[in-house]
Amino acid sequence: MNILLFGSGGQVGWELVRTLQPLGSVHAYDFPAADFSRPETLRQMVRGINPQVIVNAAAHTAVDRAEDEPELSQLINAESPAVLAEEAGRTNALLVHYSTDYVFDGTKPDAYSEEDEPNPLGVYGRTKLAGEKAIAASGCRHLIFRTSWVFGARGQNFLKTMLRLADGRPELRVIDDQHGAPTGSRMLAEATTAVLNRISVMQESAWNAGVYHMTCSGVTSWFGFTRTILEEACRLGLLKEAVVPKLIPIATHEYPLKAARPANSVLSNEKLRKTFGISMPAWDVCVRQVIDELTLHTEQSRAE
Ligand SMILES: NC(=O)c1ccc[n+]([C@@H]2O[C@H](COP(=O)([O-])OP(=O)(O)OC[C@H]3O[C@@H](n4cnc5c(N)ncnc54)[C@H](OP(=O)(O)O)[C@@H]3O)[C@@H](O)[C@H]2O)c1
Repeated sequence: MNILLFGSGGQVGWELVRTLQPLGSVHAYDFPAADFSRPETLRQMVRGINPQVIVNAAAHTAVDRAEDEPELSQLINAESPAVLAEEAGRTNALLVHYSTDYVFDGTKPDAYSEEDEPNPLGVYGRTKLAGEKAIAASGCRHLIFRTSWVFGARGQNFLKTMLRLADGRPELRVIDDQHGAPTGSRMLAEATTAVLNRISVMQESAWNAGVYHMTCSGVTSWFGFTRTILEEACRLGLLKEAVVPKLIPIATHEYPLKAARPANSVLSNEKLRKTFGISMPAWDVCVRQVIDELTLHTEQSRAE
């Protein structure tokens, strides 16, 4: 199987390069070799490789910067995925794409299902939703995995920011009134690969193209996420307990940001479980795994 992967340098893409290997030949591209701000240039790349599966992990993920760059965000998050969908449709290839909890406004009191009406609060969510709609409208075979609060050992993310800020500050003020499921990038790549494996032995009629929620299980706030990050970092020796700051829970309005975020980001994974038999692990298991990996890296670089 020929697999074309975009966004191979990102958090999820980097993990996919490894997890997709057993499925076939992985042709992995990142910016600038593949430039999603120039959607039409992607056609030749797809045609040159003629993949059976296109996996798109590229995106404009800077939620606040997107408010100042709506055109760029639209090109990367909506128009380029639309071109990939057209190209997939031409050859009956499967397009695997990722989307976000930020398509919702967060006013629902419990977990969002795929049936719930999106209502994004900002440019990032709006452009990601436009990407989802363009893919669905193309009629190509597709899977859109909506995920949330992605973190991993590689790339920029909340976990790494908190570890950096924790080292040397007396206190850390963290938002405690937004709830969601932190999701490990490795787990996302592994679950994506498991779905592709499952599809290869399923009847085409046993699954439907469309949106599937794919997040770690469990719920926390950014404050709860931070507490677990720091506890695990101390336990594994990545941080010294003596330097760990006092954690102070705050409300969203006490930490104003350019883009509004949903207060409830929790997504139900029921459809993923029922269709593909895949259960996602708890978010804190992924925190442990990432801190473990970062500790190992630190020990290795000290030894060199
Ligand atoms: N991060 C989250 O918290 C989160 C939450 C929900 C959903 N998601 C979704 O999950 C998917 C994977 O996200 P991630 O966390 O892995 O994102 P990421 O780490 O920001 O990676 C995004 C990738 O896209 C690439 N990219 C940016 N601009 C590009 C352009 N003009 N042309 C081509 N590639 C470009 C980046 O390259 P450079 O590194 O060179 O910029 C990077 O390799 C995305 O669809 C995202 O919307 C993420």
